[in-house]
Amino acid sequence: MVDTGLCSGHARCNATAEDLFPLDDLGYLAVTDPEIPPGQERRARDAVAACPERALSLVDE
Ligand code: F3S
Repeated sequence: MVDTGLCSGHARCNATAEDLFPLDDLGYLAVTDPEIPPGQERRARDAVAACPERALSLVDE
């Protein structure tokens, strides 16, 4: 799950896992509920941890 309301365009999530966290033309997160493929959880966790706004959180499904 991604709370895009807190995204202020730091793009660190994208730098960590570009395919999981694409950005829009303005540099903000372009996805609201990114699908994390099996085996990509660690990259997703690293991207979540990289956001200085704490805009991202992962939830188990
Ligand atoms: Fe936004 Fe945080 Fe990524 S501010 S672009 S969600 S690093």
